[in-house]
Amino acid sequence: MDIYLDTTNVTDIKKWLAMGLMDGITTNPSIMLRDGFFDLEAGAREIASIIKPRPVSVEVTSDVPEEMLQQARSIIKWAPNIVIKIPQLTRDGTPCYAVMRKLEEEGIPVNATLAMNFGQVMLSAKAGASYISIFVGRIGDEGGDATKVVRDSVDWLKLWGYKGKIIAASIRSVPDFLASASAGAHIITTPPNFLQVMTDNKCSREGVRRFIADAEAALAKIQKSKREA
Ligand code: E4P
Repeated sequence: MDIYLDTTNVTDIKKWLAMGLMDGITTNPSIMLRDGFFDLEAGAREIASIIKPRPVSVEVTSDVPEEMLQQARSIIKWAPNIVIKIPQLTRDGTPCYAVMRKLEEEGIPVNATLAMNFGQVMLSAKAGASYISIFVGRIGDEGGDATKVVRDSVDWLKLWGYKGKIIAASIRSVPDFLASASAGAHIITTPPNFLQVMTDNKCSREGVRRFIADAEAALAKIQKSKREA
């Protein structure tokens, strides 16, 4: 299972990259706006360069099919490790599977984003998407069982041999992360703060304190017996 960070915060990206725990990045226009990356191209190029060869997902900013195709063909040239995020639907509800299909046929990897149910996952996979992002938190907001969507999707992709990988996205808590991992998500993209929470445990910290204290006590005893010898 891979762990992606759902962020454009460069400090966090470098921190988790250095720990060897970060396998890729997902972005969207809202995350970029929040993190002050107003220039999509400059931001995407910077992140792609920091994390290469790991992938960074960059979302198109139009929902007009022809414009989405043109944007995707332009964005993909910014760096060799870019994946293009295409939403399931346009604002008026027109499916975007033809856009996904065309881009994948052109060799442009697609992250089919904003998937909220198993049906959308199946259609994205049939359209050839390399990645399918299931929005775990937002499914839960509507009372849905996101863990079941993730599990059903992973099982179905495997049963029929589709190449698409499930990204559990819209992670809102450590339990969201753990449930998605248990359900078999190929990738989990998470805000960095939940990884930080996962690292910590007061018994681990207390254990280290005790071991260091005892090691120091043992060293003191050796030094004392050397002095007395
Ligand atoms: C995924 O790629 C999205 O960027 C992200 O997970 C959306 O999460 P949200 O529902 O917290 O906005």
